[in-house]
Amino acid sequence: TEFRRQDYRPPDWLVPAIALDFDLGIETTRVKATLTVERNGGHDRPLRLDGDEIQPLAVRVDGQDADWSMDGDTLVVAVAGDRARVETEVAIYPASNSKLMGLYASNGMLCTQCEAEGFRRITFFPDRPDVLSRYAVRMTGDKAAFPILLTNGNPLRTGEDGARHWAEWEDPFPKPSYLFALVAGDLKPNHDSFTTRSGRKVDLNIWVREADLPRTGHAMAALKQSMAWDEETYGREYDLDLFNIVAVSDFNMGAMENKGLNVFNTAYVLADPDTATDTDFDNIARVVAHEYFHNWSGNRVTCRDWFQLSLKEGFTVFRDQGFSADTGSPAVKRIDDVRTLRAIQFPEDSGPLAHSVRPDSYVEISNFYTATVYNKGAELIRMMRTILGPDKFRAGTDLYFDRHDGEAATCDDFVKALEDASGVDLTHLKLWYSQAGTPKVTASLDQDGGTAVLKLAQTVPPTPGHPVKQPMPIPLKVALIGERSGAEIAPERLVILDAADDTVEFDGLDEPALLSINRGFSAPVDLQVDRRAGELEKLAASDSDPFARYEAIQELMMRWLIAAAQGEVADIEPVIRAVGDTLRSNQLDAALKAEAILPPSEAVIGDRMDRVDPDAIHGARERLRAAIGARLSDELSSAQREGGAPGSDLSSRAKGTRRLRSIALDFLAAADAQAGARLAKVQFDAADNMTDRSGALRVLASLDMPERVAALEAFYRRHADDPLVIDKWFGVQAMAQRPDALDQVRELIRHERFTFANPNRLRSVAGVFGMNQWALHHASGEGYRFLTDLILEADKVNPQVAARMVPPLGRWKRFDDQRQALMREQLERIVATPGLSKDVHEQASKSLGG
Ligand code: ARG
Ligand code: ZN
Repeated sequence: TEFRRQDYRPPDWLVPAIALDFDLGIETTRVKATLTVERNGGHDRPLRLDGDEIQPLAVRVDGQDADWSMDGDTLVVAVAGDRARVETEVAIYPASNSKLMGLYASNGMLCTQCEAEGFRRITFFPDRPDVLSRYAVRMTGDKAAFPILLTNGNPLRTGEDGARHWAEWEDPFPKPSYLFALVAGDLKPNHDSFTTRSGRKVDLNIWVREADLPRTGHAMAALKQSMAWDEETYGREYDLDLFNIVAVSDFNMGAMENKGLNVFNTAYVLADPDTATDTDFDNIARVVAHEYFHNWSGNRVTCRDWFQLSLKEGFTVFRDQGFSADTGSPAVKRIDDVRTLRAIQFPEDSGPLAHSVRPDSYVEISNFYTATVYNKGAELIRMMRTILGPDKFRAGTDLYFDRHDGEAATCDDFVKALEDASGVDLTHLKLWYSQAGTPKVTASLDQDGGTAVLKLAQTVPPTPGHPVKQPMPIPLKVALIGERSGAEIAPERLVILDAADDTVEFDGLDEPALLSINRGFSAPVDLQVDRRAGELEKLAASDSDPFARYEAIQELMMRWLIAAAQGEVADIEPVIRAVGDTLRSNQLDAALKAEAILPPSEAVIGDRMDRVDPDAIHGARERLRAAIGARLSDELSSAQREGGAPGSDLSSRAKGTRRLRSIALDFLAAADAQAGARLAKVQFDAADNMTDRSGALRVLASLDMPERVAALEAFYRRHADDPLVIDKWFGVQAMAQRPDALDQVRELIRHERFTFANPNRLRSVAGVFGMNQWALHHASGEGYRFLTDLILEADKVNPQVAARMVPPLGRWKRFDDQRQALMREQLERIVATPGLSKDVHEQASKSLGG
C-alpha cells in the first residue's frame, strides 16, 4: 500500500499515558503494556493498534477479557466508552531480530530503534508521531547480564530480587512512540555534567563497553559544546536532569535522538587519534550535536506525520551545520556540505527516486530518510535565513518553538511562525517543499563601459509524476570582482530570481568585471555561467568569497576533465597555474587548499556529461592527477612533508595540514607510482595517527606495488581487534581504483570478518563499492550483478540497509545503451525475487521507472 500526504486524518484514539513492563531476556522478552486511551472526536470506530511480527498473548479492556481481532498485523479492539484502560501482552525475540528495528540484541546487550515504525515491533500501539503519551516504564532482568537498565526520562525506583533486579523510570514529557528507547547491558559510563544557563545541573553519561571508555572523551566534549551552543544560538536549554548516550555496534543509521537516551552507532562515538581519522572526529561532533539539537527540533516539537520528516531533519541538519561552522572553519564546512549535496542529493533529485523535501507519497517510510529530506531540507532552511536575515530568522524560530512546544507540527507551521515573527511573506519559497528537481540556472554578464547587465534564467527539470514545474524563488548572492584590481567592485548583494528569467543592472564600474555568483552556495541549484576565457582563472586567484573561489578552481578542473573525457584537446596550463597558485598562496590555509585542489569525483564529473562514460572519465581524471603531480611536484612534496602534525593535535590547522598531506601524496603517486609507493610507505610507517595512516593506505590500495599488500596486512594486524578500523580496511579496498577491483571485492565478501549482519561492515563493502563508479560500471556488467547479489542476500537479513544499496543501479538512464540494459536486467531480477521486502521492492521498482 502507498501512503499519501493528502490522506492525513487525525488519530481516532489518543493515548495520553502508557505504562510498559519489560521482562528482559536476549532470547525472549515479555512486554506488558497498559494504555490509557481516549476517543478523539465523535466517531464509533474501534481502537486499532499497530503491530509488526508480534502476536497478542492477552488483551484486556478495563480489566476484562476484550473483544478483539487481528486485521493483518493490526490489533482491533472494541472499546465501548470514550475512555478505557487497554492492556496487552506480547513475547518478542531480540536475538533473532536481524532487522535491528524494535528491541534487538547487539553484543550481549539489548537496545532499541523505534523511528520510524519500530515501536510496533515491541508492543501494540497507534505507532504514529501525532499520538503523544506520558511513559512509565518498568524493566526487570538478570543482574549479571544487564547490570545497567536505561530508558527515557528519569529513574524513580530500583530493587533487587535474587539474581534479578528491576528499575522504574518515568518520562515527564509526552512523546510519540518513535522516541521511546530502552537499553539493558553491561555498560560503563563516561560521566560528566553540564549546568544550563538557568542553573539546572544535568548529569551526562556516555555508556560503552568498559574497554571503549578511553575513546569517549571527544564525544563528551562535543556534547557539552552542543549544549552551550544551542543556548547561545537558538536560546534552547536542556529540560531533564539526565542525558544519556549509548554506543551500539549494530545500528542501521548514524544515531537516534530518543528523549533523554540517545542511541548511537559506535562509529559516531568512539575516537582516539590512533583509530579515528580527523573526519571521524568531525563527524562525531556533528552527529552528537545533531541528536542533541533534536531535543527541541524533533522532540519538544515533533512531526505530525512522516511526510513532515524534514520539519525536524532538515532543520536539525541546518542547526548542526551551524554548530560545525562555528566550532571549526565555516568555509571548509560549507564546501564539505555542498560536496555531499552534489555527490548524493543532486543525483537523487535527477533520477528515478526523486521526491520533494516534503514527499507526497511513500510505500516504506524508511526509504525516505534521504539526502533530499535531510540535506536539501537544510538548504531550504538556509535560504529562509538568507532571505530573512539572522535576527528575523531567530525571532521566527523562537516563535516556532514557543507556539508548538509539546505539539506535532507541520512544515507549513514552521514557515508560518517565521512569517509571523518577521512580517515577510514566504509563500513562494514554499515551492521548495513541494517541487522536486534541482533547478538549472544560467547566468551571463554583459558589460558596456561602466554598466553591466546580469542575465539570469532558470528551468526546473521534470521528475517522476511531475512533468511541469513552476519557476522557483532562487536567492543568489552576487558580487562583481575587478578583472584588473582583483577587488570587489560591486559589493555582495542578494538577488532573488523568482521568474523564469530576469536581469539585474550594475553601474559605476571602472574596470571589466568578473561575475562572482551563488556565493557561499546561497541556493542549491545547478548553475552554469557563460564565461570568457581566462575568467575562471582570475576568479580562482581573487574571488573574495572563499566558497566561490573554491568553485572557480573546481570549475576550471571540471571543464578540462569533461573535454578530456570527450576526447577533445583542452589546454591544461590554466589548471596547473590555478592549482599551483593555490598551493603557494600565503592567504589560504591548508584545509582550504586541500578542498580546492582535490579534483571532482568521477561520479560528479559524470553528472555533468550527457552520457556517463566511466572509462573515459576515469582516464581523464587519472591524467589530470598525473599532470598536476608531475608539474607541481615541488609544491606537493613540501605539503606532503610538512603535513605531519602530531596526531594528538586536533586543531583546525593540524587537521588541515594532514588533509592536504594525503591529497598531495595522491597526486604524487599518480605521477610516479614507484616514488609514490615509497613515499606512501614512509607516511604509513611513521604515522602516529589514523588520518595519515589511512591516507597512505588509500593511495597504496590503488597501486600495483609490493608496498600495497604489505601495508594492507600490517594495517589489518595492527587493528584486528577494532571493528570500526576493520571497516576502514574493507572500505579502502572496496573504493580502490584498480582494473581488478571487482575480483578484490569478491574476495572481501569471502573474508572471515565479513558479515551481512552488521550494517557498518556491510556498508563498508557494498555501500562503498556502489560509489566506486569505475568498478561498478565495468562494461562486462559484472559489477551490477555482484551488487545485486549483495542486495538480495542483505535483504534476507536487514531490508532497511539492503534498500539503501539500490540507488546506484537507478542511475541507468545516464549510461550507454549496453550498460542501461545490463543495469535494468539486474533491477528486474531484484523485483522478480520471491519474498522480497517492501523496502527493496519500492526502491528497485521505482528505479526501473514504473
Ligand atoms: N532521527 C534519526 C536522525 O537523527 C534517524 C533515524 C532514522 N531511522 C530509520 N530507521 N530510518 O537522523
Ligand atoms: Zn536527525
